[in-house]
Amino acid sequence: MTAKLELINVHKSFGTTHVLNGIDLAVDEHEVVCLIGPSGCGKSTILRCVDLLDTIDEGHILLDGYDVSAKGVNPDEVRRRMGIVFQSYNLFPHLSVLDNVTLGPRRAHGVDKDAAEAHAMTLLDRFGLADKAEDYPNRMSGGQNQRAAVVRALMSDPEVLLLDEVTSALDPELVGEVLSVIRELAGAGMTMVLATHEMGFARDVANKVAFLHEGRVLEVAPPAELFANPQAERTQQFLQRVTEAGRL
Ligand SMILES: Nc1ncnc2c1ncn2[C@@H]1O[C@H](COP(=O)(O)OP(=O)(O)OP(=O)(O)O)[C@@H](O)[C@H]1O
Ligand SMILES: [Mg+2]
Repeated sequence: MTAKLELINVHKSFGTTHVLNGIDLAVDEHEVVCLIGPSGCGKSTILRCVDLLDTIDEGHILLDGYDVSAKGVNPDEVRRRMGIVFQSYNLFPHLSVLDNVTLGPRRAHGVDKDAAEAHAMTLLDRFGLADKAEDYPNRMSGGQNQRAAVVRALMSDPEVLLLDEVTSALDPELVGEVLSVIRELAGAGMTMVLATHEMGFARDVANKVAFLHEGRVLEVAPPAELFANPQAERTQQFLQRVTEAGRL
């Protein structure tokens, strides 16, 4: 079976810093893969490269077996097939939630206002935000903002959703509502790649967990295996530290 998303020997440097050092990773359709590893190991860079926000230096990124990192590929067309959500949700403060989430489809994809708003209302309702449609981001909680950012990413009906530490900026009591949105999406079969420091959540929702170290995938396994029986010494050390910090 062709993987939905596959990274093959992906390299990326910023100046003299070699950040991705030959990443190999396959994500099947409907699969949830969590990227874990110490700060600076390249989790965000992987997601940005997959969404073609950063260009890779070497290797291939395949979507349905098709090389989207090749020269001549229109990045906008690829990006429409993927959604990305960041830690800082980046909603426009001067626009209502409804305008924030319909802006992209209307401007970039030429969807008409009524159709975009109808789609947006369905999604806002699905994630418990229907009554917030006319509100402005600065009058909502971090959890509500982040859920609105997820809705915005879903507006193009992406085939793959990329989530970068989407709970890290939230107060602990708001983390749960965003995690339950992700859990719902996983249950609905959304293919997702998440960078996360929430090991408990990774264990709960991931089909596979990939541990990164120095720009390589050191080990990838189902969470029960990886957390209970890490193979690489680096993974063991990382999980030990996470456990000591009370995060596993
Ligand atoms: N635009 C950039 N210019 C220069 N260096 C960068 C850039 N983006 C990332 N880096 C460097 O690449 C490395 C990997 O960064 P990245 O953000 O991917 O790590 P991360 O695993 O997401 O870390 P964290 O857990 O802290 O989010 C870091 O050393 C970072 O300083
Ligand atoms: Mg990061």
